Amino acid sequence: MNAKNLDLQVYISEEKIKKAVERIGNDLTTKLKGKKVVAVCVLKGSFLFYSDLIRRIDTDITCEFFGVSSYHGGTSSSGEVKVTLDLSSPIENQHVILVEDIVDTGLTMNYLKKAIESRNPASLTTVTLLEKPDALKVPCKLDYVGFQISNEFVVGYGLDYQGYYRNLPYIAQVLNLQ
Ligand code: IMP
Repeated sequence: MNAKNLDLQVYISEEKIKKAVERIGNDLTTKLKGKKVVAVCVLKGSFLFYSDLIRRIDTDITCEFFGVSSYHGGTSSSGEVKVTLDLSSPIENQHVILVEDIVDTGLTMNYLKKAIESRNPASLTTVTLLEKPDALKVPCKLDYVGFQISNEFVVGYGLDYQGYYRNLPYIAQVLNLQ
């Protein structure tokens, strides 16, 4: 299957994404206002959600980027998490918001939670735009979830298939994956 020939159908519109981002941003503002906050963007998939979300959080924030890869270009998680970019500064005693694009098996989020917690933050708040509850392989507690979706492969708004489609402004379901 050529990555550029996928049959796509809008699954979550730009308008719905915007409302979810506003809701989570308001909740995080209420929770963390006045605290020393560092928002961690999990690369690559969460970069669009992250950039929209941090603009909706009304408190002082520093930004950090954590690169991980678990799919290696396919459509099912390998279960192995590889760090491709580490945080650039210590996060000790800071209130960390960890921003993911999607929680599928839960393996990546659990790996990230352990990696952050081992660095002794003051608190850790987990956020994901999407969660596939039926795909979970390990229990994974999340603080804020944009949308729970069924076990479909989706692209757009940061999410990719073989590196493509991240620039779609909405989330689309892929109809013709084997
Ligand atoms: P997990 O470790 O199985 O929870 O996978 C998490 C990672 O898999 C996410 O950060 C995404 O990069 C990727 N992923 C999971 N489901 C999808 C999907 O439907 N579309 C695109 N990427 C996905």
